[in-house]
Amino acid sequence: MPAIKRLGTVPSEEFCPNIVSIPRPTKHFRYLNTPSGDWLGTNDGENLQVFGHVDDAAIWDVTDAGFKHVVSGLELSATSNELNATCRLRSGNEEVTVTEGDVLVDEFTIEHGPELLPSSYLETLNKQGWVSISCILPDSVVDGLQRVGCVDAYADRTPVRQTPLAQDPSVAQVSAEPISLWLTREYMKTNDIRLGHSPGISALTRDDGTREVQGWHTDFPYLWGTGDRIPVPSGDLVLGMQRNVCVSDFTRENGATIFKLGSHASNEAPPEEWGISNHTYRKGFRAEYGLPYGGEESDLIEAPAGTIILYDARTWHRAGMNMTDHRRGAIIQAIVPGYIIPFMDTSQTVKSFLASDAFNQVTERVRKEIEKLMVHKIAGPGGLFAITTDEELTQRVREQRQAAASVY
Ligand SMILES: [Fe+2]
Repeated sequence: MPAIKRLGTVPSEEFCPNIVSIPRPTKHFRYLNTPSGDWLGTNDGENLQVFGHVDDAAIWDVTDAGFKHVVSGLELSATSNELNATCRLRSGNEEVTVTEGDVLVDEFTIEHGPELLPSSYLETLNKQGWVSISCILPDSVVDGLQRVGCVDAYADRTPVRQTPLAQDPSVAQVSAEPISLWLTREYMKTNDIRLGHSPGISALTRDDGTREVQGWHTDFPYLWGTGDRIPVPSGDLVLGMQRNVCVSDFTRENGATIFKLGSHASNEAPPEEWGISNHTYRKGFRAEYGLPYGGEESDLIEAPAGTIILYDARTWHRAGMNMTDHRRGAIIQAIVPGYIIPFMDTSQTVKSFLASDAFNQVTERVRKEIEKLMVHKIAGPGGLFAITTDEELTQRVREQRQAAASVY
């Protein structure tokens, strides 16, 4: 990528980012799901089987008579092709049945799928370091997330003080969204991935013109210039992805995230002159220096609610500012390989989820995925252990830090 011009100016009120507008798709493919939430698909266009993840093998298009496998062209006739309906399928003269454990499955649910083939998203992600999986979330999931986040139609609702994952099945469903997870696994070249912290829904309120704002940064585990967890440059290994879920529509006016797209490949921290996070949050910074950079070298992605923007965590970015009276909902999620220490301990959240009604309202596949993503593990000669924080040792390290600080 071309060298990024270092600006000689301090941050300013200038706000003219390059706008990237993601259109609402006119059409979506379909999934054919088993009762446990797995996907019917085929690798060879002949033999149908059940998959525990989504790649091109699990993508179907609607036809007059039923469904057509997008990659292989295999056609199935169906008793229904309506979204969210249950159907029986035939391949030629044969009824389609599969087994899940000991159970014979002969009915499939027709579910909302992606606009494009997963391989097409992967190609884009590999090429540019970010991809939009446009309107990938079903309307019911978007609705649940807006309710938990108290945004859009639920703006008058009072937020509930309970971990979002235990409040509503939509939070587990979005966390286990299969294409963003498959892309993350492919991009980071490991199947063993984790959430860096528990999922939360943030609601951005109108900017008041004076409060301190988020500056330019890279995300966990890089945090270049703001925490320096991973040295610069980081090399070829990808140690983090960021998944931004648009719970509300993201627009220029309501605070859509601002990026320097392509900057992941520079292997550099954002320039201090742009206003970096650990400076802009200092009290009085905005009054003295103005806002972080938002000029023509930056990019703002506008996208409809239900869209996932997935990007290499090294990409420079900062939060936008909401200039409207409507709170803008988002889930900002760090995903890391299993060998990276998480940003926060997720064990209490996952235990709350296991004990919640939300757990009973999601499929077996979503439950399995949440446990995989949120239980951090040690797998060593001594066996398998789940990692969590230890209170006694936490107390000890905090005391040590305090003692060390007081020496100076
Ligand atoms: Fe960030």
